[in-house]
Amino acid sequence: MKKHLVAPSVLAADFSNLSKDFAMVNSSNADWYHVDIMDGRFVPNISFGMNIVKTMKGIAEKPLDVHLMIVEPEKYIERFREAGADVITVHYEACPHLHRTLQQIKDTGAKAGVALNPHTDVGLLELIIEEIDLVCLMSVNPGFGGQKFIYHTLSKIKKLKEIITVHNTETLIEIDGGVGLQNAEKILQAGADVLVAGSSVFKSEDPIDTISKLKAIGGKIFHV
Ligand code: DX5
Ligand code: ZN
Repeated sequence: MKKHLVAPSVLAADFSNLSKDFAMVNSSNADWYHVDIMDGRFVPNISFGMNIVKTMKGIAEKPLDVHLMIVEPEKYIERFREAGADVITVHYEACPHLHRTLQQIKDTGAKAGVALNPHTDVGLLELIIEEIDLVCLMSVNPGFGGQKFIYHTLSKIKKLKEIITVHNTETLIEIDGGVGLQNAEKILQAGADVLVAGSSVFKSEDPIDTISKLKAIGGKIFHV
């Protein structure tokens, strides 16, 4: 059984002292950095662009999992890769030519992810699952950190897991939004492989300990 991964979402980090928060995550047993890019068009919020991703790459000692909440992501894939993205995730809802866009991501050497909004059915990925390294199921409406987990996501995880099993692919299931110690076990039991956690890590009293606890859930051996 593969151990799940934990990806702190840096949207909740202290941007006046990124080095401090990155040093904390570097020294923790987190697996990836989750990096949210918002354009004010696909989602009603703006975060930051590739220059900041490049700065993050310079201080990160773990892979960058870059979540593009932007329209026309195909225009920026190479630039996010050059900035240091290791995984590049685009939204299903923003990609009329998803197959081509996934190929474009893989051509840069990055892993290719597809994110689904809460209302989007996982069955829509059945015909393309073999091309996808990671599916990011949004468990909140994308755009903001600190929102409440939508419990309907659990049934989406189970359905997606079945699709992945039937097609025998290595696709990872990532859950993004409202994830914390209170619900991580249920999410993992449903079949998730990657937990994204923003507020529950960075706003906790002891973020390193919270990351360790998120890793420890399930009681398996912690090797990636
Ligand atoms: C939401 C982002 C999430 C967010 C998660 O649009 O995609 O990655 O940072 O934050 P929390 O864990 O606080 O819900
Ligand atoms: Zn995200």
